[in-house]
Amino acid sequence: MLEEIDHQVQTLLRRVNQSTLQRMSGHYRVATKTSYNDLVTTIDRQNEQTINHDLRRIDPNAQILSEEGIGDDQVTSLRGHVWIVDPLDGTLNFVKQHDHFGIMLALYIDGQPTLGYIMDSINNDLYHGGNQWGVFKNDTRLTSPADLGLHASLVAISSPLILRNVARLPLVAQHASGLRMYGSAAMEMTSVLTGELGAYISYLRPWDLAPGRVLAEELGLVVKSIDGDRIDVLSSNLVLVATKRVAQDILRLTK
Ligand code: IPD
Ligand code: CA
Ligand code: CA
Repeated sequence: MLEEIDHQVQTLLRRVNQSTLQRMSGHYRVATKTSYNDLVTTIDRQNEQTINHDLRRIDPNAQILSEEGIGDDQVTSLRGHVWIVDPLDGTLNFVKQHDHFGIMLALYIDGQPTLGYIMDSINNDLYHGGNQWGVFKNDTRLTSPADLGLHASLVAISSPLILRNVARLPLVAQHASGLRMYGSAAMEMTSVLTGELGAYISYLRPWDLAPGRVLAEELGLVVKSIDGDRIDVLSSNLVLVATKRVAQDILRLTK
């Protein structure tokens, strides 16, 4: 049953991605949400409408928690099947660069991170997996990335955390091989999965974290809250996704 859901969700994501790329070169409206650099477009909302509509057909009894509010009003419990949806991640990049953005979904079952999907939109690469099936980039199985330690690894840290010197993160950047900021949790998560980055640190909302968490844990990577609290996937978390040695190096510096 989960195999059939997975198959249908992959087909859905590929279709939504094609239509996102087509609409990107046409006319769409852009609005601000909480501030001048927090954007939403008509494409975010249309994607969410399509994804949620199809998820209701694919997995009829599931709850849906989605960023732009078209899902279930109140998702307060992780009981049963819960889909977590980011219909367009990296909206600022989408608008400014027409590059470096994605679409993300996750399925939690009774609180367990179970299936994760991250579509790298421009490259049309779908990262997917979980449920002890492994992690795949399209049809190719990913292996766990090499664990090189912080000095030999690039790290991505979201810019507000560096600018506000949260948790001594500028010090972490100084100890890394280099600092990168892509402006899309989707792109940063997939770069940790492939080993291009040794770590990604950001303050993430449920839809930014849930899909990457499933895939990273499936690959044996560390997904931890920097302040030591347990991750609560229904709220926001300051999290680290990293290989084991890089995580140890970072947690030593942020203490
Ligand atoms: C944002 C991006 C960004 C991250 C923010 C997210 P959105 O997602 O992933 O990189 O730093 O926390 O909100 O709003 O473009 O879906
Ligand atoms: Ca997002
Ligand atoms: Ca989004």
